[in-house]
Amino acid sequence: MGLEKFICSLMLIIIGVAHTTATSTLDYRGALSKSLVFFEAQRSGKLPHVASLSWRSSSGLNDGSTENVDLTGGYYDAGDNVKFGLPMAFTTTMLSWSVIEFGKKMGSELHNARDAVKWGSDYLLKASCHLPDALYVQVGDPDKDHSCWMRSEDENTPHPVYKVTPSNPGSDVAGETAAALAAASIVFRHSDPHYSKQLINAAVKAFTFADKYRGSYSDSLSSVVCPFYCSYSGYQDELLWAAAWLHKATKNSSYINYAKSLGCNPDSDTFSWDNKFPGASVLLAKEYILQKNQDVSEFRDHAEKFMCSILPNSPSMSVKYTPGGLLYKMTGSNLQYVTTASFLMSVYAKSLRFSKQTFQCGGMAVNPSLLREVAKKQVDYILGVNPKGMSYMVGYSNNFPQRVHHRDSSLPSVNIFSGPVTCDSGFQYYHTSNPNPNVLTGAVVGGPDENDNFADDRDNFAQSEPATYINAPLVGTLAYLAASSQH
Ligand SMILES: *[C@@H]1O[C@H](CO)[C@@H](O)[C@H](O)[C@H]1NC(C)=O
Repeated sequence: MGLEKFICSLMLIIIGVAHTTATSTLDYRGALSKSLVFFEAQRSGKLPHVASLSWRSSSGLNDGSTENVDLTGGYYDAGDNVKFGLPMAFTTTMLSWSVIEFGKKMGSELHNARDAVKWGSDYLLKASCHLPDALYVQVGDPDKDHSCWMRSEDENTPHPVYKVTPSNPGSDVAGETAAALAAASIVFRHSDPHYSKQLINAAVKAFTFADKYRGSYSDSLSSVVCPFYCSYSGYQDELLWAAAWLHKATKNSSYINYAKSLGCNPDSDTFSWDNKFPGASVLLAKEYILQKNQDVSEFRDHAEKFMCSILPNSPSMSVKYTPGGLLYKMTGSNLQYVTTASFLMSVYAKSLRFSKQTFQCGGMAVNPSLLREVAKKQVDYILGVNPKGMSYMVGYSNNFPQRVHHRDSSLPSVNIFSGPVTCDSGFQYYHTSNPNPNVLTGAVVGGPDENDNFADDRDNFAQSEPATYINAPLVGTLAYLAASSQH
């Protein structure tokens, strides 16, 4: 062997070792634990005395007071201080699904995952307790909120409250709320049957309201929900999604008939707070795969069409992958599509493995191992196996985003600087290149661009802003990957 050849083989060995080390040292269980800490940072309302985050305090304690209703609690969606109902409900649904599907693999984190669900479902119960007259769907004026850079704890003026009603309907947000309440009812079925019953009753009410008073909240509340969480996909997907979850929670077959009568848009390759078609397809397809329920066979086709639209090398792939191997769908918060897709692949892999089935994408054979491998690769990318060697989960590894677009993380804590930080004075902390003083542990940010580049810059919110709905599906996938390298 010539020297050159020898050095070359040596290099390959070193690269091989480095690569193995990088992947085998990924700590999925640690990442799972961190991913749940993020939900504590997003909490609104009265925080428990033994909060694990020293830099957050109670906030929004007057929420709802302008309408004499109690809307305290719930989650801020991302880096601002608004409580948006649609993404909050979707977050709660996905956290619930994570627990339902992979809770047995969560070990000591199961307790924290249930707490994260409950912080959302407690709020959704309050928001829906005035049905059938009104469903409260938002606290805070986003334009006003976004023009300030303030701590959630300093927001002392009463926040405006928004609702949908029979004459100003919102089948999208009401449908998602029904899905969230139904999914959460399954989470607490055994651990807290009374609470579970409350949740399912509220879910049925929200679903009835969504179905009976058809319309989009993007029309009813256009100026305060668009463009932030405008329901671009319409409300058919949420009605389907709600029916699928209500069927799973109640086993009442009328929801299956309802779902079939709605049908599905099988061309969606994105699953998000806006578009629920792929999620509903996978949820219903599981009934076919595991329970042989012939009534839902069409949803298996939809679910597999979705898988074929995202799998690399599939003839019908319609998403892109970056040179570094990240699924890439859109500029704004792209990682949300990565975490939802990875979750659906994990769920589907689990069902197929259990029933010993496979499927085809054109000529490409797909088995559970392939689905798991693709999902794992996406999660590994998020955790640092990428061209920049950066973990897009804050606080994981030594190289993670420092200037996250998040008010409470970037401003001095109320427990250190009693303030106040006013609407305008907060911007000095926004514009500094200093790292955020409060580490937003576990938050997954929007992520890199289509060339694997990432600007660690608060101003670049498309890349540096975290969101509860990026994390929620990741909770389940991390539990799946942590459990074993085989299943
Ligand atoms: C099933 O759901 C439908 C629609 O909500 C309802 O009318 C019916 O009473 C339910 N059946 C049972 C057995 O609960």
